[in-house]
Parts: sequence; C-alpha cells; structure tokens
Amino acid sequence: MDARDRLIIALDVPTVAQAEATVARIGDAACFYKVGYQLAFAGGLDFARALIAARHKVFIDLKLHDIGNTVAKGVENIAKLGATFLTVHAYPQTMQAAVEAARGSSLKILAVTVLTSYDDNDLAAAGYKSGVRETVLLRAKQARDLGIHGLVCSAEEAAALRPVIGTDIALVTPGIRPAGAASGDQKRIMTPQKAIAAGADHLVVGRPIVEAADPRAAAAAIVAEIRDAG
Ligand code: C5P
Repeated sequence: MDARDRLIIALDVPTVAQAEATVARIGDAACFYKVGYQLAFAGGLDFARALIAARHKVFIDLKLHDIGNTVAKGVENIAKLGATFLTVHAYPQTMQAAVEAARGSSLKILAVTVLTSYDDNDLAAAGYKSGVRETVLLRAKQARDLGIHGLVCSAEEAAALRPVIGTDIALVTPGIRPAGAASGDQKRIMTPQKAIAAGADHLVVGRPIVEAADPRAAAAAIVAEIRDAG
C-alpha cells in the first residue's frame, strides 16, 4: 500500500468552506479524508460526494449504533455515496447489520472498539466492569467473527490485536501525535512511526495537520514518516 493511502486526515472543521480550503492547501500531499459529526452535520456529506468525484478517498466517521434495520438502511446509502470506510460501534447486532448491508459494495465497515479518549476510569464511569484492554479484545474477537473489514483502535492496542484478528482485518488508529505535538484530549497516543511499527494499516490524524500553520508540510512529513517506517 502506498504511504499516502495510509494517512487519513480528519477534517474536523465547522464548515464546508473551511474543509475545502484545508483540502486545497494540502493538495496532492494526501488523498484520504475523514468526515465526522461536525462537518457531516454542516453539509459534509455532499462535500464527501465532491471529494470522491475528485478521486479522493473518504472515511465517513459517524460511528453508527441503532437497531439493526436502521443501521442497515443507513449503511446502504453511505455505500451508494462511494465512501471507502464507515465506522460503527463494536456491538454485535450493529456490526452484523452493517456488514450485511455493505456486502456487494466497495464500502468497508470499521468497528470502533473503545474510543481513544477513554481510559479504565471512563469505562467504569460508563458502567463497564472490564477495563480498556479486556473490552477491546472481546469486541475485536466479535468483530472478526462477524466479518468486519477493519477496526479502529489505539496504536497501543494494534500489536496485541493483530494475532487475534489475523492479517485480513485493517487496523485504523487515531490518537497519533508527531513528536512534540500537543495531545489535546487523546489519552492513548503514539507517533506515526511507532504506530506503523505496531501494525497499524491506516493512521487518522486531525489537529496536528488541520491546525498546523502549513497543513501540506505537516501531511507530507507524516507521509514520509509512514514511508520510512513501512
Ligand atoms: O485531532 P485528532 O488527531 O485527535 O483527531 C482524531 C480523530 O479520530 C477525531 O476525528 C476523532 O473523532 C477520531 N477518533 C478517535 N478515536 C476513536 C475513533 C475516532 O480519536 N476511537
């Protein structure tokens, strides 16, 4: 896989105009963009269509979770959009509905194990009896058995997950910070080089690129780091 295809830039900006400007500034330094809540709810799904028409790849990060029928209908329409990745929460019913609905399309379903801003205390506060590590492993095994195409997990978990899920399931890791970058609200972070060495297939990077003085240079530096590590 080309190093550029391994970097996914999170377009966490409030307006389509800002997203367009960011993509224009990045130019050909990157080719894969993630559209999440903020942008999707401000016209970002039409913008995603435009990105795809311009031969970019798009990851729709709406982390779906609902009754199976509702998930399936939503997934069918995201598949029609031409997106490459879509996230769902790693609950068995949700994963099963999403995988079945994506069948026959080029859309790949990624399951979110445990959000990278969560630690053991946050899981306990949410009512879970097991910690991050155990919960991630349980959900990864369920995802594998249900035919999920990829998992979103922290880079710290990637090395432990690979033996569990085999080589066919993509590992997509947010919580990436180049050395010296601010961590923000991410609690489990790793540098691009270390994440690739840990077995990540794709890295999701938002603020360190989007908020950089020179987003193109920031993206190019991470692509170079991925290339050197791969
Ligand atoms: O700005 P930053 O690099 O922290 O952005 C990370 C992106 O990855 C955000 O869009 C966030 O929603 C997303 N994400 C995450 N942890 C997950 C799943 C998605 O940080 N488990």
